[in-house]
Amino acid sequence: MGDILNNLFRSEAEELQLLNRLSYVMIFMGIVTFVSLLFENVPYGRYSNTKYSFPINAKLAWFLQELPAFVVPLLIVVGMSGAKLSQLPNRLLLLMFFCHYAQRSLIYPFLIRGGKATPFTSFALAFVFCTINGYMQARYLSHYAEYPADWVVNSQFISGSMLWLVGFLINLHSDHILRNLRKPGETGYKVPVGGLFEYVSSANFFGEIIEWTGFALAGHSVQSAAFAFFTLVVLTSRAGAHHRWYLEKFEDYPKSRKAVIPFIY
Ligand SMILES: NC(=O)c1ccc[n+]([C@@H]2O[C@H](COP(=O)([O-])OP(=O)(O)OC[C@H]3O[C@@H](n4cnc5c(N)ncnc54)[C@H](OP(=O)(O)O)[C@@H]3O)[C@@H](O)[C@H]2O)c1
Repeated sequence: MGDILNNLFRSEAEELQLLNRLSYVMIFMGIVTFVSLLFENVPYGRYSNTKYSFPINAKLAWFLQELPAFVVPLLIVVGMSGAKLSQLPNRLLLLMFFCHYAQRSLIYPFLIRGGKATPFTSFALAFVFCTINGYMQARYLSHYAEYPADWVVNSQFISGSMLWLVGFLINLHSDHILRNLRKPGETGYKVPVGGLFEYVSSANFFGEIIEWTGFALAGHSVQSAAFAFFTLVVLTSRAGAHHRWYLEKFEDYPKSRKAVIPFIY
């Protein structure tokens, strides 16, 4: 991994420039995605459309597409000299990223119950995103990110880390509730109840948005902010679509429930 990057860049300044540019591209892609999602839902899960590309089993797709966000950072941290790896804020932020993607790639896929097959194009886009984002976050944090010596006791780092943890737990709990709506072998949909589903239709997305917003607050970088922005845009659009879908499908769907942000949207 180190050799590959050494051959790709003439200097550290050049790599840092790429890491910054990738962040701006991610923000731009977030805006493009937001506009395109006004016209069409991301075609996986309940909107799965395999007319234009072949389907991949849901468990396999989630495992393979999310794996690069765990393996690429692992290769970077273990196989390369990271100038900032000994710094506590950098370590803690990397730990947050690893925690999420260890769960998302190594545990979540194997717990899915009756998930719809993922079309190859959605799978491929997610795979590329996870590869680039894994490189962007891990390389920046392990080699370039510089924080003041007392950053871990700074109120911005503390509140961001707390938000990350709360969001992570909400996401885990909400995905657990969704999973248990189905008995083994079932593939249909039911009205989610309990936890933050009492307030919003997509409590799992609310957790994920809170999580990466906290990470961005604690990380204080364009790299972490770009990822939080992309997550916010993609999941807010998907949550809006889920909410309209529930209201159409279930006559008795709770009318006070919002789409993704309690009491607001
Ligand atoms: N950071 C990001 O940008 C990002 C992007 C996408 C997803 N994610 C995260 O990845 C996870 C999964 O995302 P997703 O889009 O697949 O979430 P989702 O649409 O809520 O579906 C999650 C799982 O629950 C099942 N499910 C959903 N609603 C159900 C209901 N009412 N009754 C029974 N089963 C139901 C789905 O089955 P079906 O497959 O049959 O619909 C699927 O297996 C979430 O934690 C999300 O936050 C993150």
